[in-house]
Amino acid sequence: MAVIAVTRERRVGETRVATVPETVKKLIASGFQVVVEAGAGAAASYPDADYQAAGATLAKTAKAALAQADILFKVRAPEAEEIAAIKPGTLVVATLNPYQEKAALEGLAKAGATAFAMEFVPRITRAQVMDVLSSQANLAGYRAVIEGAEAYGRAMPMMMTAAGTIAAAKVFVMGVGVAGLQAIATARRLGAVVTATDVRPATKEQVESLGAKFLAVEDEEFKNAQTAGGYAKEMSAEYQAKQAELVSTHIAKQDMVITTALIPGRPAPKLVSAAQVASMKPGSVLVDLAIEQGGNVEGAKLGEVAVTKNGVKILGVANLPGRIAADASALYARNLMAFASLFLDKAGAFVPDYEDEILKAALVTKAGAVVHERLRG
Ligand code: NAI
Repeated sequence: MAVIAVTRERRVGETRVATVPETVKKLIASGFQVVVEAGAGAAASYPDADYQAAGATLAKTAKAALAQADILFKVRAPEAEEIAAIKPGTLVVATLNPYQEKAALEGLAKAGATAFAMEFVPRITRAQVMDVLSSQANLAGYRAVIEGAEAYGRAMPMMMTAAGTIAAAKVFVMGVGVAGLQAIATARRLGAVVTATDVRPATKEQVESLGAKFLAVEDEEFKNAQTAGGYAKEMSAEYQAKQAELVSTHIAKQDMVITTALIPGRPAPKLVSAAQVASMKPGSVLVDLAIEQGGNVEGAKLGEVAVTKNGVKILGVANLPGRIAADASALYARNLMAFASLFLDKAGAFVPDYEDEILKAALVTKAGAVVHERLRG
């Protein structure tokens, strides 16, 4: 029976865990054994005893867990201490951040690991249940609004009181993928008046169906801005200039701006300039969800709240899903469980099918080398 190891996340600020007790039970039912490093779930509110009750065995250290493992489940790329303990041929499943963390990939290759980057799982129907980008971005979009509301010194909904009326907050969401849609829905639930923009035409209808208003430069380039894979293309300097002009007058009137714009494999597009930030009222808040890919807002700083001279706050919260770690871990665990089902054959034996298009697309290291075509050279 194949053994899955779950080790503690070692990266500073990483509160999530790759498997939760509920999922341990299901993994065991489908034919795996699970060994969990002591304390692995503590920061996400999953105590060791719950893992044991679900049928996992506990290992005192990562090294002890990995000594028995055929498969390693992680949220982030394993750290040096874990890589040193990985046996050649171990399957590693994690969000490896492959474009930015080349050293970790090299380390995994050298250790002889067969590593899969969950970010590369194709967005086909069969793989929806394995889509970690969606499961985590959805929670990040929700949490961004909560963080923004906390930093905003006013109420979000309109309130009519005996002492007077409070106006509803105006929220502008830039980038309407999975995170942006959830941010719109959350801000609407809190009673804000919401507008949103994106470069992909398909988002217009989605924004309107959530009761928000769509704002964009709808020219020829916009009509062709979506790739076959459903992602945004990098827009021309001319388009970005037109976009900036359109949103400038809008941003000046907003109480909160939430930015989520990303382009796979590229730095995040700069969407909000320092001058636009300066045009906002004191007490306004920006939340930059793209901060880990360089940020959409000029002046945003990773892991910090930057306050401008005119009293506008720019939140560069790192790892938003980690601020809702119990739920983020539970969804991530289900994504990984679905992915690991591809390691078993129909009879439940541990025979990964490397010809499966999902495994093929996510495979990044094998037999000592980095093998993914997008990462070579
Ligand atoms: P993402 O995280 O790569 O980017 C976030 C958003 O930023 C995107 O909507 C993108 O169009 C937008 N953006 C990029 N440049 C911009 C700019 N200059 N100005 C304004 N907005 C800009 O996107 P995510 O959340 O991964 O979603 C990408 C697509 O994949 C969506 O169409 C989504 O519905 C689709 N999807 C499909 C799935 C499936 O079929 N299994 C699962 C999840 C998402």
